[in-house]
Amino acid sequence: MAFFKKRTPEKEPIVIDERLQHIAFIMDGNGRWAQRRGMQRPMGHIEGMKSFDRLMVHCRELGIPHVTVYAFSTENWKRPKPEVDTIMNLLSSYMDRGINELEENRTAYHFIGDKSGLPDKLREKAEYLEKISAHLPLTLNIALNYGAHSEMVHAVNTLIASGKTEVTADDINGALYTAHSPYPDLLVRTAGEYRLSNFLLWQLAYSELYFTDILWPDLSNDQLDDIIRSFYNRNRTYGGLKGGDKGAKTAK
Ligand code: FPP
Repeated sequence: MAFFKKRTPEKEPIVIDERLQHIAFIMDGNGRWAQRRGMQRPMGHIEGMKSFDRLMVHCRELGIPHVTVYAFSTENWKRPKPEVDTIMNLLSSYMDRGINELEENRTAYHFIGDKSGLPDKLREKAEYLEKISAHLPLTLNIALNYGAHSEMVHAVNTLIASGKTEVTADDINGALYTAHSPYPDLLVRTAGEYRLSNFLLWQLAYSELYFTDILWPDLSNDQLDDIIRSFYNRNRTYGGLKGGDKGAKTAK
């Protein structure tokens, strides 16, 4: 009797096309990753940084034009100082690497959020990296001291200061920190929380949302590929009818 080993069907390779121009991540679960191993929470952020580095290389290799990550919210300052310091140090050394590996990363960095609330040195480094990377073809938005409500307040105040007394949706788009990127097509949140936590509230209006229980440090490249495959199987209707004319824009 012959035995045939059941073969797992080959997965389709991921081809990034116009359906996925922008992916956003809420990188949640670093603290739990550490605590489950009996480690201090900051260790989870160090591991989260490794995961971030690996996944960003993967997104780059796939050729996703715009990626946005939630690194630090306006509320995260409430965390214990050692944890905040660890995240700030990780960001600072990440910026150093961005400066040193500029051309090979092919990435224009944007630090979205209220930069005036950052320590001076970090803010200056962020602005320098933004400036020297501006010509590069891929976009990475790193939300830092970011909150969607304060982003909208900032946008409205910018428009008022420019003399507007009435605004359109395009005016608001143009005044958001993400004005240079299309809206996210897909938002991925790790670590089993089902909320948006004041992230990109305007921009996510028609985005596909994907929630997974996997903790951020554990999210593998293959798992991200599976998430993208599942996104490609979704039917985006933008409030229209299934399979019908889309009618809504995904890019500004
Ligand atoms: C949420 O996990 C994660 C953060 C608040 C920080 C994310 C920071 C990094 C991945 C490192 C720096 C990133 C960049 C972009 C350079 P949590 O601490 O809320 O986890 P928990 O819900 O398990 O407590």
